[in-house]
Formats: sequence, C-alpha cells, structure tokens
Amino acid sequence: MKSKSPHPLELSSDEMRAVGQRALDIVIKHFENNRDEHVARTLTRDDTERLLRTGLPEEGTSVNELLDLLARDVFPNSLKTDHPRFYAFVPSPSNYVSVIGDLLTSAHNLFAGHWMASSAASQLEINVIDWMKELVGYPAEGGGIMVSGGSMANLSAIAAAREARLGGPDAKAVVYCSDQTHSSMAKGLRIIGFGAEQRRTVGTDEGLRLSIPDLEQAIKADRAAGLKPFCVVANAGTTNTGAVDPLGPLADLCARENLWLHVDGAYGAAAVITERGRAALAGLGRADSITLDPHKWLFQPYELGCLLVRDASVLRKAFRIDEDDHADYLADVVRHVHADVNFFEHGVQLTRSFKALKLWLSLRAFGLAEFRRAIDVGFDMADVAEATLRADSRWTVVTPSQMGIISFRWNDPSRSEKEIDAITSRSVDLMRADGYALVMSTILRGRPALRLCPIHPGTTADEIRETIRRLAAFSVEASAQ
Ligand SMILES: Cc1ncc(COP(=O)(O)O)c(C=O)c1O
Repeated sequence: MKSKSPHPLELSSDEMRAVGQRALDIVIKHFENNRDEHVARTLTRDDTERLLRTGLPEEGTSVNELLDLLARDVFPNSLKTDHPRFYAFVPSPSNYVSVIGDLLTSAHNLFAGHWMASSAASQLEINVIDWMKELVGYPAEGGGIMVSGGSMANLSAIAAAREARLGGPDAKAVVYCSDQTHSSMAKGLRIIGFGAEQRRTVGTDEGLRLSIPDLEQAIKADRAAGLKPFCVVANAGTTNTGAVDPLGPLADLCARENLWLHVDGAYGAAAVITERGRAALAGLGRADSITLDPHKWLFQPYELGCLLVRDASVLRKAFRIDEDDHADYLADVVRHVHADVNFFEHGVQLTRSFKALKLWLSLRAFGLAEFRRAIDVGFDMADVAEATLRADSRWTVVTPSQMGIISFRWNDPSRSEKEIDAITSRSVDLMRADGYALVMSTILRGRPALRLCPIHPGTTADEIRETIRRLAAFSVEASAQ
C-alpha cells in the first residue's frame, strides 16, 4: 500500500476508516461464526512454508489483500482457545469489549511504566489492582502489577519473596512446590538463579492436593541439613485437575515456620467471585502473594496476568533500582518520583503497555455480576460432564468436577491399563482430527487421562454431552485399531 499522505506510514482518514472497517468485519465475523468453525487446525511446517513464506518486502501490498490472507490462511489454522468447544489446556474465551480495549491500548500506545508518562492510565491500573485485591481479600496496604501472564507473575512473586525474606540470592534457600505445580514455577525459579537442589517437590494426597505431612517433613529435614526453607508455592486450581491445595492450613504452617506463601491461582483464583469458587478457595487472602491471570478465567485476550502481594512495598524492594543505577535519561522522571505508582519500579519491565485497560473496560461495561455468571457456566459444564460420564459405565471418573475441570478414562475390563493408555492417546488424535471439540489428555498418577476444562461462557450442556458421545465413539474405534 502506498499512502497518499506526505508523511511516511500515515493514512488519510478515509483510508483509516476503510481499513478499520475491513478489520472490524473480520473480528465480528469471528465472534459470530466461531462456534461453527473447526476447533483445532494445525498445519505441518512444510504446509506453512508453502502457504506463508514471503521475502522481506521492499515495496508494500494492499492492506485489504493482507487482511484477507490473515483471515483465510492464518487465523483458521490454529487451536481456537476461544471456541465454545475448546476444552483443552486452559481455554481463553475472550469478549468483544476487551478486544476493543486492546485496540485502544495499541492505538494510543501509552507508556504505562511511570506516573509522569501515564498518570490517568496508571490510576486506572491502580483501580484494577485494587479491585483484584478486594476480590481475593487483600488489605489496603497490598499491591500488585499487571504482567504478561502467569509465568511472569510466578517468577516475579518468587523474586519479590526472596528479596523480602532473604535480602537477595542465597544458595541455601529452599522453595517447596507440589508435584502438581505448573511448570512455569520451575522455569521461573531456574531463571532467577535457583538450582535444582533448591527446589523441593512435595507429594500430594489422594485428591492431588499438596500433602501437609510431606511438606512438614521436608522442611524439617532441610532445616536439619542447615538449609533455609523460605517459600511454599500452593495451587489454587491446578492445571491438571483443578485441585486446590489446603490454603488455610498452609497459611497456618507458613506463619508457624516463618515461610512466604505464594499461591499460584493463575487459572483458578478468579473463581473467588463465585459462591462455589469462594468456598473452594477459603484461605486465599492469607497468602503473601497470588498469581491471578485475567487471560484465563476472567475472559481477557492475551496477554494479561496479575501478581498481587499482601504488602506493596515488597515489589518496590525487589524491583526498584537504586538512584545511582537509574538511567541518566530517567533523571527528570525520578525527580518527579511517585515510587508507589511507577510501575517500572514494581516489576521487570520499564516500557510496558496500558495492560489493565481491557480488564477495566470490560469490568465496568459488564459489571462483576456478569463475570460471575460467566464463571458459573464453567462450574456447571464440568458438573454436566461428570454426570454424563458417571451415567455410562464405559467411563471412569479419575478426578471429579472441581474448579471447572474434570478428568476421566476409558473403562474396558477386557483391556489392560497399557492398552487403555494407547486407546486414550488414539481417541485424542481422532477427536482433534474430527474438529468438533478439542479434548487433550494429561498424566495423572502415571497414566494418561482425558481432561475437560469447559470454561467458555457460551458452552451448552448439549455440546458437552455430544463431545462425550463422540469421545466414546472414538474410544471404541481406537479399541479396534
Ligand atoms: C496454574 C498455572 N500457573 C501458571 C501458568 C502459566 O501461565 P502463562 O501461560 O500465562 O504464562 C498456567 C498456564 O496455564 C497455569 O495453568
């Protein structure tokens, strides 16, 4: 495209309107037709090279042509995490108002790293963080920061905990996680310098919740060996099964042992706004820090995670750079300092976008009650799945419906466990090729199990039942292979 403007990279009003309308048409079509689309298309690398490889363009192409290419060749060839029948991993159903929020965020391109650059935007971010604090039951002196997602929130939480409790890296420090903890925690720990010998993986009980006796024993052994236990990571909704670790008893233990309690609620913490979620998450507000991802169960487009801390000063302590180390070109900014509202002093990023805008916009536009209704659908759909599975003796429920997740396995007494493992894997492949719904497996107690996480607010009970009917048919077909 060659713009008619005398300035490079500038479009006229008419051109902007035309391109914007075309893009918006694609977006609206996506929201309206998503349900009828194939839920999981993955191309081979050869196919994508053939379809999409182009040279570095010296001259431009019409934007309309490029938008058509994206709509035809790129967006459909993906796992649709916002599809009403996407039940794998953690789905990310989004909403149109937040999409408009993202458009405004990138259009205005506010620098939300410090107060001078984005005073009003920072105020909205503070409002959103205060709302999140209120949801989890944090006190006024708590704080937080919006980040890219759960991995960054978990990493930042442990960096802050280490600074608060140990004053920095310490080769004797030990962190405790359960065998169900999300892999982002091990990754974050490694990045910030914890060796494998400083991470303890604690066993889980029959409900796949962190075992307190095992944890107590590990702490005792480490203290006896002259090590420094300092942090326990608990799960508020594991990705595998939705299990919630015993948060209240863990808070008691951490208080007794003077340990930092971090709760990874990237997936589940948002459910605290519902009655069932609040009951399951009792004790959440007693954690020293909490990860809560709005791009999971708060229906926001990627990338939006949130780290909350009981005491806001711990983020400044961990992430604020000493005056002497400040970049010289930030001198005027730090002269103006409002350290408690300069987000670059609360986290890893200096340049950061106005991340909270979409959540602020959608929460204000819909109201919390609408979000509560949306999350309740996830609890209901997992319950429908459990009832459907229990009514058919060909299925075994491995873990019950909890926090919008259920896991299950094909049950055929004439087959060995190993044969059932293979049937499970083959049924996943057949289901994925079918395209009606996406269901994946996970490994529970050493064996593959199917898993549904039906948290899209538009999912219906009929769709859940039809998914399970097809899964049974594919399991029968897989048994014959
Ligand atoms: C419980 C939990 N923690 C952390 C993460 C990592 O979050 P992200 O993928 O946003 O970095 C996930 C992702 O699914 C998760 O389910």
